[in-house]
Amino acid sequence: MSKQFDVIVIGGGPGGYIAAIRAAQLGKNVACVDEWKNATGGPAPGGTCTNVGCIPSKALLQSSEHFEQASHHFADHGITVKGLSMDAAKMVARKDAVVKQNNDGILYLFKKNKVSFFHGRASFVKALDGAYEIKVAGAAEETLVGQQIIVATGSHARALPGAAFDESMVLSNEGALALTEVPKKLGLIGSGVIGLEMGSVWRRLGSEVTLLEGLPDFLGAVDQQIAKEAHKAFVKQGLKIELGVKVGDIKVGKKGVSVAWTNAKGEAQTLDVDKLIVSIGRVPNTSGLNAEAVGLKLDERGAIVVDGDCKTNLPGVWAVGDVVRGPMLAHKAEEEGVAVAERIAGQHGHVNFTTIPWVIYTSPEIAWVGRTEQQLKSDGVAYKAGTFPFLANGRARALGDTTGMVKMLADATTDEILGVHIVGPMASELIAECVLAMEFRASSEDMARVCHAHPSLSESTKEAALAVDKRTLNF
Ligand code: NAI
Repeated sequence: MSKQFDVIVIGGGPGGYIAAIRAAQLGKNVACVDEWKNATGGPAPGGTCTNVGCIPSKALLQSSEHFEQASHHFADHGITVKGLSMDAAKMVARKDAVVKQNNDGILYLFKKNKVSFFHGRASFVKALDGAYEIKVAGAAEETLVGQQIIVATGSHARALPGAAFDESMVLSNEGALALTEVPKKLGLIGSGVIGLEMGSVWRRLGSEVTLLEGLPDFLGAVDQQIAKEAHKAFVKQGLKIELGVKVGDIKVGKKGVSVAWTNAKGEAQTLDVDKLIVSIGRVPNTSGLNAEAVGLKLDERGAIVVDGDCKTNLPGVWAVGDVVRGPMLAHKAEEEGVAVAERIAGQHGHVNFTTIPWVIYTSPEIAWVGRTEQQLKSDGVAYKAGTFPFLANGRARALGDTTGMVKMLADATTDEILGVHIVGPMASELIAECVLAMEFRASSEDMARVCHAHPSLSESTKEAALAVDKRTLNF
């Protein structure tokens, strides 16, 4: 006997579990199917973000940052630590406990909102009259029927040809978060978001880290003034970053990995490391969905084709998050999940793709919203720029972290804020105010007129707004 639902959500990551909760809040009878297993085979909803992405990486970034502070910066505060040591296995165990709290939190939220959870892999069986039959294979073998289907199956790490992930020597984000010993030499291919976050974690814990990046520019999608500032800080910390490289043969042995590569000048080089992390982007998860059984349209990358409202080519089938176009960010997936649930309930869900913030959780953190200076130039938009360095911010001095700046870009005629770019302490938190300002289409003058608490890092965003009009007060 099949179980009937108004809405079936396939995938319990940030896109899926949030969509399921919102649809249930709106009175729908909802099922969410997720196959992720914890160490004992039990359900571990939350997807990549919770299990092997955002949450565990932040747990390890925090632990490694504490170690870095205690090793190098406590002395500046007059604190002496003797016999400092570090236990990587314990750090990873703490990270696992943080992940479990989040898994359990989602299961609690499903109960609270009366979402039926199924642990297993969901795939399409067939289209029915005004509904779809979905098979769940796993701990629960079930047949479900849903009038509306939301696919939120996420993505997985892209492997480099000739260097398949074994999660022992060649690691994706999953293996990179599970190392229980600090590798002496760590190599990373791709210096994007994952490369920099994971490289930072293991460098702070003592690894000698080398990043090999194919593109000639460091963080090409980031405002280049901010990227240059970040690059300077990372190199000073000891990260080796090679740009414009061509990666050749990769030899994986029992004790290490040898990477042949060519530098930007065309000179042949070899990098010998204990472990290699490959972080060259991610691929949508659609293989296993049995999309062909119902004629669900995929593009050449294997992503589900959707319109601006996350509608697929099939009536009643929607898709959100990493499995569709757009940035692979948990908060973008959540916004799409909420909007789809609201559309299903006859409301007018909306996602503003121009105000989705980006954060790279390194130290200093990098965060931005809106267009970069290079984008404004290529779009032919006349703009004004204002920057304010954390060096001139009292709270940053007291924190002992004055790296970086806030940069604001505003329309030359209307003064509307077009982009804000931050590299520095707590950039991930500071960007929220800027997203809100842009969502309300604020001008830089609006931001400059808002009272900001003193002493706080947020005064730097106000000062950057003042800088757009060339009237900073503290610099
Ligand atoms: P990415 O797209 O951020 O960076 C991949 C880098 O690898 C690029 O710089 C690219 O030029 C380089 N690359 C590609 N092929 C290469 C090759 N053959 N040789 C050398 N370099 C090569 O992808 P990443 O870091 O794997 O992250 C995947 C996704 O996960 C991103 O889209 C990101 O949005 C998301 N993510 C977000 C986080 C956050 O919001 N803080 C944290 C971690 C991941």
